[in-house]
Amino acid sequence: METPQLASPPVPLLLGQAADFGRVRALFEKAQFDEKTISRALGIADMVELGKVRIEEADLAAALGSPMLAVLVRAFLLNRFVPRDVVERTINDAALGSLLALDLVRPDQDAYYAPALLYPVAGFVIASDRHENPDGSPLAPSPDAVFPAIFAGTLRFVRLIPRSSAESALDLCTGSGIGALVLSRHVERVVAADITARSAHFARFNALLNDRRNVEVAQGDLYDAVAGRTFDYIVAHPPYVPALDEPRIFRDGGETGESVLRRIIQELPRHLRPGGVLYCVSAAWDSAEGPLEARMRRWLGECNREFDVIFAEQKELPREQIASWLADKARRTDPAASAQWEQRFKEAGLESNVYGAIVLRRADAPGAGDGRTPVTLRPKLSPRTDGACFAWAFRWHRWRAEHEATGRLAQALLDSRPRLGSQLRARVIYAPQNGSLAVSEIMLQSDLPFRSATGIEPWMLQLVGQFGQGRTAREVYDAARAAEEFPDGFGADDFATLVAMMIERGYLEVEDSTLL
Ligand SMILES: C[S@@+](CC[C@H](N)C(=O)[O-])C[C@H]1O[C@@H](n2cnc3c(N)ncnc32)[C@H](O)[C@@H]1O
Repeated sequence: METPQLASPPVPLLLGQAADFGRVRALFEKAQFDEKTISRALGIADMVELGKVRIEEADLAAALGSPMLAVLVRAFLLNRFVPRDVVERTINDAALGSLLALDLVRPDQDAYYAPALLYPVAGFVIASDRHENPDGSPLAPSPDAVFPAIFAGTLRFVRLIPRSSAESALDLCTGSGIGALVLSRHVERVVAADITARSAHFARFNALLNDRRNVEVAQGDLYDAVAGRTFDYIVAHPPYVPALDEPRIFRDGGETGESVLRRIIQELPRHLRPGGVLYCVSAAWDSAEGPLEARMRRWLGECNREFDVIFAEQKELPREQIASWLADKARRTDPAASAQWEQRFKEAGLESNVYGAIVLRRADAPGAGDGRTPVTLRPKLSPRTDGACFAWAFRWHRWRAEHEATGRLAQALLDSRPRLGSQLRARVIYAPQNGSLAVSEIMLQSDLPFRSATGIEPWMLQLVGQFGQGRTAREVYDAARAAEEFPDGFGADDFATLVAMMIERGYLEVEDSTLL
């Protein structure tokens, strides 16, 4: 049996006076209601881990080192009742008056409770829907529940968001508005758009609470909310779980899970400016039609050659696994449900479900593109990969293609001064050989710009160690040649190719000015 469709609870939080928002901000600042203080005190890495801590409410003040912070954590993060006398003793009348005026707390007999979940994340304080009642009993999410910004996928999305300046940006599927708020630090005008009135209301509230005056909130189905407008950046963390019925708007992406993502990409050419970039975290499919990257090119239509496409994959799951996960999730543990899902995916030609970061950059010159072959890549996403890594990859591939086209690539690489990559690790494995231990495998690894691992020959390890002393690649080459470190027939062009591979995979780094 499917869970019955739930009615939405009344929308909490009031878009009140600026003075009340100001007083609440001051209260949070005074209490140090911030990620660093709270995670350090509770011994967690980030707010996502909050669900893992089991701390007695009575011990909170001692753990947090402040009764005021304990009241805020108890009411807003743990979402529990807090006795009236404790609140009134700890929070001054004016601040409490503002919390009440904005409907951030409500009185209930001899206690107060918060009608929303409220937490510090990415340097903001964000409200979203609660998932427990104030007495700790579970609260099933309504179809239009506002998605928590303290979810691992959202933090991945936040890491991806560009930190460079631009005139305008759009956060599609904004939920709490977190993407738009992060963008608003660097972008002049940001639109936060969502299909539900509930999310639009929370996004408005969060923009006011964080005093982000350059954030405009719009409600509508994807780009309908911003018809006729174009943007330098478009970011999205859409719903992507396959669902047949009773959709949860924040989670479900149609029969294959791809329906929202597909429309984001299909309509992108009408809304992304030349030189603009789409950043998106989603799951989708590799299918009989081709890998996700090739399918996205088809979705883009005729102008797909104007777009460079990078899909940085975090994980890949076979369709059988997705089918059985969906069957379990619906609590239909009978094997037939799983087989039905599998059959559905099979009929649609879907082979494996892939999850990661999708980044599409539009060429500076619209129309025919800029005459070069567009980039299409699938690296591996690492926990350190951020928006700047994609920007670097686009620059690097453009520089490389331009120099290749004019036959100047080897020369330019030999003239560059690479240094060791900040995340370079060399892993050497020894194994028994002829009665003693000998090197059997050497791997170079890096987490920047993407996750990479490359097996190399022992002589190459020596060579890698020669970089990082400010020498040009040519000087490293000449010294190694003089020391007879190369195998026979390994020339300067081969060395340049090796340097290119090591730069691309993050084992070596070059100054940004090299890639101009
Ligand atoms: C996974 S949540 C992400 C929320 C937020 N961006 C985040 O990362 O925390 C997906 C959001 O997409 C919204 N949504 C679903 N379908 C949509 C559509 N067709 N147009 C606009 N928003 C949509 C949902 O209401 C929900 O807020």
